[in-house]
Formats: sequence, structure tokens, C-alpha cells
Amino acid sequence: MDETRLLSSVVCPAESGTPVVFVSDAFEAHTGYPPHEAIGRNLSFLQGPETEPLAVEKFRQLIANGEAGLIQITNYRTDGSLFVHECDFRPVRYTNDKITHFIAIQRLVA
Ligand SMILES: Cc1cc2nc3c(=O)[nH]c(=O)nc-3n(C[C@H](O)[C@H](O)[C@H](O)COP(=O)(O)O)c2cc1C
Repeated sequence: MDETRLLSSVVCPAESGTPVVFVSDAFEAHTGYPPHEAIGRNLSFLQGPETEPLAVEKFRQLIANGEAGLIQITNYRTDGSLFVHECDFRPVRYTNDKITHFIAIQRLVA
């Protein structure tokens, strides 16, 4: 399978620590983490030495402000190899008002 062509997605509730509640099948193809190893955790577990602090800060800002944005970030697989993906990050609003979740659609770029 050519995993670079897959889009993966993750969903996190808009609560303290944004613990993952859903990952798509392609998330495991991208990262090596099966759903049961991702669910309940903050996605910062994907980060490592080469992860860009500015990208992490952008996640913090989008979450705090309830905004959508594109973030490119270097992350790590279960086997320790690194990859770069572009995250299309969006808030999910209930009845167009209160933000209940955040969703990210992730495309592997390297
Ligand atoms: C929906 C969603 C998707 C996220 N995807 C990633 C990701 O793919 N890689 C990553 O390093 N951080 C990702 N994050 C960001 C981390 O979960 C976390 O918000 C970030 O590390 C900043 O928080 P911290 O101050 O606890 O480190 C995502 C967050 C949310 C809510």
C-alpha cells in the first residue's frame, strides 16, 4: 500500500488535554499506532526531537482560539522513524455555536 496517498483523520473533544476519541484506519498506516494505542491520549505522543516548536505552538493557538488552520509538523512513528504531515485542523461546532470537538485531516508530505 502506498500510504502517502492516504488521508488520515483524528477527532478530539474540546476539553482539557484533547484526548483522542477517533482515528481513521489510515492513521495506523501513517504512524504505526493502532487505534487502541492512540485513543484517550493527547497527540503530543507523536512528537520528538525534530518536531518544530512553532508548529506545536500553532496547535495550541488554534485550540485556544477555536480556529481552523493548516499545520505542517514533523512527527514520529512507533518504529522511531520520522515523517512530516500537513494537518488540516478545524473546530467542530454544535448548532453552529459551541465548539465540541476538533478534527484534523492529515496528509503525509514526507
Ligand atoms: C484534532 C487534533 C489533532 C492533532 N494532531 C496532531 C498531530 O498530528 N501531531 C502533533 O504533533 N500534534 C497534534 N495535535 C496537537 C497536540 O495534541 C497538542 O495540542 C499540542 O502538542 C500542544 O499541546 P501541549 O502544549 O500539551 O504540547 C493535535 C491536536 C488536535 C486537537
